[in-house]
Amino acid sequence: MTNLASLPLPLSLHQPAYDLSAWRKQIPLLETVVPMNNCSQSPQTHATRAAAERYLESWNRRGMDWDAWMEEVRLAKQEFARLINASEDEIAVFSSVSEATSAVATAIELGGNRERVVVSEAEFPTIGHAWLAQERRGAQVAWVPVRDGMVQADDYDRMIDDRTAIVSACHGYYLNGFTQDVAAIARIAHARGALLYVDAYQSLGTVPVDVRAAGVDFLAAGNLKFLMGVPGIAFLYVRRELVERLTPLVTGWFGRADPFTFHVKRLDWASGASRFDTGTPPVLNAYIARAGMQIINEVGPQAIRDWLTVLGRRLIDGGRARGLSLRGTDDMTQKTATTAFEVDDSHAVEMAMRERGVLPSARGPVIRLAPHFYNTLADVEIALDVLAAVVGGS
Ligand SMILES: Cc1ncc(COP(=O)(O)O)c(C=O)c1O
Repeated sequence: MTNLASLPLPLSLHQPAYDLSAWRKQIPLLETVVPMNNCSQSPQTHATRAAAERYLESWNRRGMDWDAWMEEVRLAKQEFARLINASEDEIAVFSSVSEATSAVATAIELGGNRERVVVSEAEFPTIGHAWLAQERRGAQVAWVPVRDGMVQADDYDRMIDDRTAIVSACHGYYLNGFTQDVAAIARIAHARGALLYVDAYQSLGTVPVDVRAAGVDFLAAGNLKFLMGVPGIAFLYVRRELVERLTPLVTGWFGRADPFTFHVKRLDWASGASRFDTGTPPVLNAYIARAGMQIINEVGPQAIRDWLTVLGRRLIDGGRARGLSLRGTDDMTQKTATTAFEVDDSHAVEMAMRERGVLPSARGPVIRLAPHFYNTLADVEIALDVLAAVVGGS
């Protein structure tokens, strides 16, 4: 087998533009295992742990401190906005992407001449479910096919028509990391008067995302994957020019113009995206989420993307050299950080790899290796060696 590590490479291909070893010291888990499961759950850092402790300390010492806690939620929204080039008043907070999607789905008018919802087959199932649930409200869901693990812009062009209310397209395909050109999809959708909803859960934190430049109308992501956070919190971007027209059927007191007027009979709407907020937000999770997103913003999405392109290339080439069967494209310009290999029993492979000190992520027919900014070329080689040994039965 070619020893890729010994091939001469330009400096930028050996190390990222940031101080990798300094960042690695912030992640205690790296002392014992090689985490390659960032498409599922990223590891704890000193900063995210300290953020959780800040909340616990505040609760313990002050009993309650709603002013400070609400401020932390606001700052978490602000940090999310920074990640996607939006502003804070365009961000709402939820406890999952499923909830965010349902809120958007219920805010879309599906009567009249626009009842069609165009959804890609590459969506995480929860997204498809949220749109299918709208059939009771008259939605007609049309599926954009996945072919050879990819979705073609031509298929959107063919399927989006002047009866289409909204298009739902993930940025990264959870199964194999295929990346959709959301700017191209936005152009097609807008040309026919349709809106675009993007699920960026599998890409945000690994690549620069600019909602303004891409022209997307809605974008949602949770925090436990590449955003270095925890379950139980997700954010939704709603384009400012759109928000005043939208009133979700999922609501609560935090969606009001002023939640603290306590008018039980008045359903007024906050002027910005916080009209999509519902009840008391997940405060502890917001502390951790903010700290996780600060790390991504500080390391820098472009520098992360550059390094993950190097690691992704190595995963593809190294997997091929070891006889592993790649699922999806081998073109890094069309891929997220995640590389998927076909295996017989992905759950069993995941368990066997964990025993050997590598954390992969099993999903249906594949095992996913999803490095993040802190991973090294050596991590990639170890993960591939362990995967090859497990599937080869040695
Ligand atoms: C692309 C994508 N969207 C949505 C989800 C589910 O999000 P949630 O559990 O926050 O509803 C996942 C979870 O793996 C995912 O990968």
